[in-house]
Amino acid sequence: MKVCIIGSGNVATHLAKALWEAGHIITQVYSRTLSNAQLLADETDSTAIDRLDDINLFADVYIISVKDEVIFSIAEKLSLPGKMIVHTSGTVPVEVLGHSSEQYGVFYPLQTFSKNQSVSFVDIPVFLESNTEDAMNILKSLASISDQVYEADSEERKKVHLAAVLVNNFSNHLYHLADDFLRKNNIPFHILKPLIEETTRKVMDRTPAEAQTGPARRGDESTINAHLELLKNDPELYEIYKVLTKSIRNHS
Ligand SMILES: NC(=O)c1ccc[n+]([C@@H]2O[C@H](COP(=O)([O-])OP(=O)(O)OC[C@H]3O[C@@H](n4cnc5c(N)ncnc54)[C@H](OP(=O)(O)O)[C@@H]3O)[C@@H](O)[C@H]2O)c1
Repeated sequence: MKVCIIGSGNVATHLAKALWEAGHIITQVYSRTLSNAQLLADETDSTAIDRLDDINLFADVYIISVKDEVIFSIAEKLSLPGKMIVHTSGTVPVEVLGHSSEQYGVFYPLQTFSKNQSVSFVDIPVFLESNTEDAMNILKSLASISDQVYEADSEERKKVHLAAVLVNNFSNHLYHLADDFLRKNNIPFHILKPLIEETTRKVMDRTPAEAQTGPARRGDESTINAHLELLKNDPELYEIYKVLTKSIRNHS
């Protein structure tokens, strides 16, 4: 298929490259920053543009992969009769695209993407939603770059995205807080890496509830109090420690 990519960030970059490698043609790459569009266009044998008015009608599918907040404002400026328009957000409803074309949908890849970190699309679950059966068939054809394809409506996708925020964004933020805490105490973060790896590996073959360990799970009050004492001058981390300890206790 011929695909126009609108956006040149993390997802746009990986998706455009995966589609191009699978044999699709990338007609144009749009970004408000021409140099960003150019970088991706160069890698996908495409043309870079930085004006929405320059988007042509040679593609079959138009994929908007920009910050959630601007998907609608970009879509409402596009008129793509007879074409398919798609966004890649976990939470934005599919209907925001309804103004631009009679065929629209969502292609939400459930993975964390950073431009310079390579990913294999084959292993990434992709959640599809569309307003017509024909549109779903187009999406499925694009999604053949993945071995795990699911259909989900906007409400289900929002719930999947929320769970993804819990396991990915929140866990990573806890790594960040642990890094800051260790740095203040002149201890390097890398000492935690085997523990991070083992924690992730463990939930691959047991439930998260079964994998839970630690003072809150065991009810070791003296250890919990010792940790809170260490955090008494750090009100933010103190509060986070207390909230998570309470939650682990409630679910043990
Ligand atoms: N990152 C992930 O792990 C992930 C995973 C699944 C789905 N998604 C979804 O994929 C979409 C893109 O996310 P991303 O992480 O790839 O974002 P990103 O790397 O932050 O890239 C954002 C893109 O939006 C453009 N943009 C930002 N503000 C704009 C504005 N006011 N007008 C026009 N363009 C604007 C940026 O243009 P410039 O290059 O000019 O800054 C850039 O091309 C989002 O809907 C997100 O929810 C993300």
